[in-house]
Amino acid sequence: MGKESIRPAKIITGAIETPGDKSISHRYAMLAALAEGSSELRHFASAADCQSTLDCMRALGAEVKREKDTVRITGKGLRGLAGSRSALDAGNSGTTMRLLAGILAGQRFSSTLTGDASLRSRPMRRVVDPLRQMGAEIRAREDNFAPLEITGRALRAIDYPMPMASAQVKSSVLLAGLFAEGVTSVTEPARTRDHTELALEAFDAHVEKTGRTVRVSGMASSGRLEPRQLDIPGDISSAVFFIAAALLLPDSNLLIHNVGLNPTRTAVLDALASMGGLITILSPLVANGEITGQIAVRGSQLKGGIIEGPQIPLLIDELPMLAALGPFTEQGIEIRDAKELRVKESDRIAALAENLRRMGAHVDERPDGLRVEGRSTGRLHGAEIEPRGDHRIAMAFAVAGLAAQGTTVIRDAECAGVSYPEFYRELDRLAER
Ligand code: S3P
Repeated sequence: MGKESIRPAKIITGAIETPGDKSISHRYAMLAALAEGSSELRHFASAADCQSTLDCMRALGAEVKREKDTVRITGKGLRGLAGSRSALDAGNSGTTMRLLAGILAGQRFSSTLTGDASLRSRPMRRVVDPLRQMGAEIRAREDNFAPLEITGRALRAIDYPMPMASAQVKSSVLLAGLFAEGVTSVTEPARTRDHTELALEAFDAHVEKTGRTVRVSGMASSGRLEPRQLDIPGDISSAVFFIAAALLLPDSNLLIHNVGLNPTRTAVLDALASMGGLITILSPLVANGEITGQIAVRGSQLKGGIIEGPQIPLLIDELPMLAALGPFTEQGIEIRDAKELRVKESDRIAALAENLRRMGAHVDERPDGLRVEGRSTGRLHGAEIEPRGDHRIAMAFAVAGLAAQGTTVIRDAECAGVSYPEFYRELDRLAER
């Protein structure tokens, strides 16, 4: 496994565009495969996770062609997918597995969904339960883990009060709802990203939102999804690593072009701004319900603070980077109400605590979060980082390494490719030493 050495940097300067948003790429790819005809998805994510989705949709009979970041998918219609002889491999991608489970539950064929060792250890009961309520037949290892054996069935619509704030679970039920008779609804306990709702509308499905309830009309016996030409905004969750790097190094000046600014994803910008981060949003535009714009960032003195409550699901993927900023802030950073972090690509609370301590930070690990002491406990030193195969842990510590004393080495560095294969090259390009 390759290692990446990160040397300290003086400033971050220049401009960048991050690859297409991972969450949106997954959803557009799945819906394009269910539409009747040819869709073109531009600025599609370079993430290995989204390639897993494309491979699965191809295995289910959709025609998928990829040329750089443009993906053309000829869909077979809502009733046109075909069973795959081999297991569908979601790789490291929870989104692929959970969303696809919803689609597969309502097909006329059986499927097996599997993934890598990390994904096979992540909880799937959260989608299996509501899908079974809809009439799905699913077998899971220990009734919770992949491989999932899904026998396609006629589904019935349900009203689902979702017990946890998860966009993946909401999306799985809504996608299954497309194949049910009647109107399926999901009520979330706290707001989560709404890309599925927007994507369903973009492909011409009927969706309604009131408060925290989303309803989708079933298309089991009639109706079709329309093929579309869609531009995918840059991934804000990838941009956050560069935003953090620029905030961290005084005199930095960074411009991020064409980045997704969907309000269910920008809580991280609000959190950083409330800590004193100098972040400006420029020229926002709306297309297909998704907002895109530019973000300008300047080197800042971050105060730190507490991140908790309903904010958490809206910045869940940014928590590793926020926690790793803790030691560089005045008062430190505390994360609460985030026990979901323990069942992500790794146990992110444990991975953060371990690696922050390796760099000399003072950390109090808790069941649902952690407290990372601020600057007064001394400057971080370079260390060997063990990302536990988790892309966001690897990238967060590469950024921390820019402001530490001495060299930081990221083990198994290529795990960053799960979401951002170009990450180290881009970080090196923007860092002045
Ligand atoms: C995602 C939802 C979130 C997030 C994941 C992507 C999505 O997961 O952490 O990286 O695309 O719907 P949960 O729904 O499990 O919170």
